[in-house]
Amino acid sequence: MLQEKIAALFILMIIFPIATFGQGNAYQGEKLYELKCGRCHFAYNPQKYSPEEWKTIVYEMGPLSGLNEKTEKIILDYLQQEASVKEKGELPTSPVLAGYVYTEFFSSQGSTDTFDIHYLNIALAGRLHSKLSYHVEFEFEHGGGEAEPPFIEQAYMDVWLLRNMGIKIGAILTPFNRFDEFHGPLENLLVTRPQMSREIGVSAWKEVGINLHGNIFIHDDFYLNYDAYVINGLGSGSRLRSSRQYRDNNDAKSFGFRLSSVITDRWEAGASYYRGAWDDDGNLNLSMYGFHLLGKIGAFNLFAEYARSTSENPIPIEEGKADGYFIQASYLVEGKFRPTVRYGTLDYFDAANLLGRSPRDTHTKITALGLNYYLTRAIVFKLEYDIIQDGDNLLALQAAARF
Ligand code: HEC
Repeated sequence: MLQEKIAALFILMIIFPIATFGQGNAYQGEKLYELKCGRCHFAYNPQKYSPEEWKTIVYEMGPLSGLNEKTEKIILDYLQQEASVKEKGELPTSPVLAGYVYTEFFSSQGSTDTFDIHYLNIALAGRLHSKLSYHVEFEFEHGGGEAEPPFIEQAYMDVWLLRNMGIKIGAILTPFNRFDEFHGPLENLLVTRPQMSREIGVSAWKEVGINLHGNIFIHDDFYLNYDAYVINGLGSGSRLRSSRQYRDNNDAKSFGFRLSSVITDRWEAGASYYRGAWDDDGNLNLSMYGFHLLGKIGAFNLFAEYARSTSENPIPIEEGKADGYFIQASYLVEGKFRPTVRYGTLDYFDAANLLGRSPRDTHTKITALGLNYYLTRAIVFKLEYDIIQDGDNLLALQAAARF
């Protein structure tokens, strides 16, 4: 019995395909595409990619699909024609690829001279719907490996409620002051980061949560930019910088906001606030506030930030406190050379040695002198010398490209 059924099945499996012989060759455009390219996965929406991208994809997938010269041309013509309809403005958009890579060299008396492939970041972004866009960014820091596995720097959907108001949902860079968003190598005009931004407001501070953001226009030359967020928040690291975390160590959520005013697109001044419990039980609060100022007048560039943090400790230990500022001025000469000077301070005090926090009482002042050479707007070579009060001076070099 069983053998007969199997034999019958075999015969059907041979007859049915033979009965469909020739159909594929008769199909044109859409049908041929659905047939050949819809075999292993659904046939992707032709508007998902640009005509140029379809060329790459069909050459990649063609050999898998058994295309000959004729069928390949029919499918490619069909896809390119459909794709160019989208180029007249339809959604979803093709993902945009961007990123940066940079390598540094550091030399100072007190530590080993070292080359460092500091970051390789790759980002993808696009719009899937008139009300939804996305942005994902992968980060490989210090070459990856066990100690620094690849990381998700940002990965969020932006749900657009209005043209100028959206909610980011996912992993975001926390909007506290501005430096955090400017830590990329073309945005940060020096090699090093201001020591205050490394510790308070904590560049690069990736968090998971939701962030309502947008602009309010008051005049053609004046608008307000706002962010208001709820996130997992900083945890119980040995210091502020090491208390960044993706998950949460307590039930208490943290919240914050940033409000900036932008005048004539040349000046921006803003204030930021953050508050949330840092300990595992969720009883001890950490709060931070900050101010930032950005100015861009012709080739001249000014950037200054101040931040202060207070973190409650278990009684009777006194509160931890940190504050600092930096002020940076830069001038772009002939679009090629950029001398920059930055002066920055950080005063950091934390007496707690309970709960895994290290006691700390440090005061640093750094004057950083930099000179950048731009081969193009997206390729930079930097040279920096830091004069560090009560510490070893530092020489830093960086080669960076954005793609
Ligand atoms: C034999 C099975 C097979 C056939 C036939 C096939 N694909 Fe694919 N396709 C795949 C697989 C598997 C992936 C996922 C590749 C990966 O993730 O590395 C894929 C991925 C894709 C992607 C996503 C982008 C990418 O490169 O990962 C597109 C677009 C695509 N195929 C288009 C096509 C087109 C157009 C055709 C027809 C010319 C086709 N495919 C035929 C197996 C197939």
